Amino acid sequence: MRSVVTALIACLLAHSVCVAEQPLGLPPLRIPEKEPLTSERVALGEMLFKDTRFSADGTIACSSCHLPGKLFSDGLPRARGIQDIEGTRNVPSLINVAFYDTFFLDGRAASLEEQVLGPLTNPIEHGLNDLKAVLTVIRKDERYPGQFQKAFGVAPAEISTDHFVRAITSFERTLVSGDSPFDRYFFGGDKTVLSESAARGLELFRMKGNCANCHEIVWKSATFTDNRFYNLGVGFERIESDLPRFVDAYWAARDAGQEFNDTIYTEAPRSELGRFNVTHTVSDIGRFKTPGLRNVALTAPYMHDGSQKTLMEVVEYYDKGGYPNPLLDAAIFPLNLAEQEKKDLVAFMEALTSPQYASAGSGTEPAKH
Ligand code: HEC
Ligand code: HEC
Repeated sequence: MRSVVTALIACLLAHSVCVAEQPLGLPPLRIPEKEPLTSERVALGEMLFKDTRFSADGTIACSSCHLPGKLFSDGLPRARGIQDIEGTRNVPSLINVAFYDTFFLDGRAASLEEQVLGPLTNPIEHGLNDLKAVLTVIRKDERYPGQFQKAFGVAPAEISTDHFVRAITSFERTLVSGDSPFDRYFFGGDKTVLSESAARGLELFRMKGNCANCHEIVWKSATFTDNRFYNLGVGFERIESDLPRFVDAYWAARDAGQEFNDTIYTEAPRSELGRFNVTHTVSDIGRFKTPGLRNVALTAPYMHDGSQKTLMEVVEYYDKGGYPNPLLDAAIFPLNLAEQEKKDLVAFMEALTSPQYASAGSGTEPAKH
């Protein structure tokens, strides 16, 4: 964990308010003006993030799914929450989450702050009945009241879920990592750091592969996401047979000015509707957020449903033009890549690993909890 925040730790020791060092290749870290990142808040947020008492059966913390040793992901296809119940979606890494503009794979939260409380009352994640349970744990704890006092200047009775959220997001904003071989090559001008294959992969990524169309690289930085939503056809086979019936019911309800009934689908296929679940716009069916790709070599398996095991499998998927469906995005089409070009793209993505994880090995060994 410490290595993740090396850049910040130096400043934490020197001041109580941190100004983050800027790792090569990342945009400036946006820290809300009213929300200075202080050592007290970050340390408190890290404790809350790892505390399993904020769950119905005392076994699940944020860190049960977002494992610090696995780049804050878990190596499983789909998340497992209380009583080991499997969810419908892959756990995204939280590294560099501070740079995103939209959260969750369907963008149902617009800020990090908005995101935090969702998992606590999600019946198959932390599974709490309500958020009062969080405050009860905090107030009864030996150390938390003193730490909230130091971090936010509040007496025990004044501690609210808002403080909980602010501590956790302070911690999340320290999870930054750039300075990968790609950054040193592209932004730092060191032409020796990429293998020839990875350098060709970068060109393919930007040109023939059309990847940077969505996994954005801008003038001085790259988050590898445009924060938009696209249909690649991943998981579409789970909804397609019932889709005509679903869409007809949707239009009929719209015409009649009624709430439409989405129970044609049970929970698992409903999750495949993606962005539609947020906007209720038919063209958003099967659209998911473009994920950032930094350190992606270490966060297998891939895609919102964890259905693709390796980066080569992902490249093959794009090469054949995704999974054909009526809502497939226009930017997804057969690429006709040669075998060497596929390897080059994989080599390029492997060059997106930041130095602090270079020895982390493959992230494919799943978590146990
Ligand atoms: C049971 C496993 C599980 C637990 C526990 C859990 N998460 Fe997650 N988290 C996920 C999954 C799965 C997603 C993606 C879900 C989706 O997009 O629909 C996610 C998404 C996120 C995201 C959005 C990332 C992005 O790129 O958009 C953040 C931030 C996050 N979680 C933080 C937390 C915090 C903070 C906690 C504790 C309060 C927590 N999570 C608890 C599984 C979990
Ligand atoms: C039209 C926009 C678009 C284009 C073009 C595109 N991607 Fe993606 N990419 C996405 C979206 C959206 C997802 C998530 C899809 C999902 O989860 O269902 C994704 C997922 C991925 C993932 C999995 C990441 C993870 O953590 O699960 C990788 C790797 C990836 N893309 C690499 C590439 C490469 C390489 C190319 C070019 C050959 C490319 N992408 C082209 C939008 C795009």
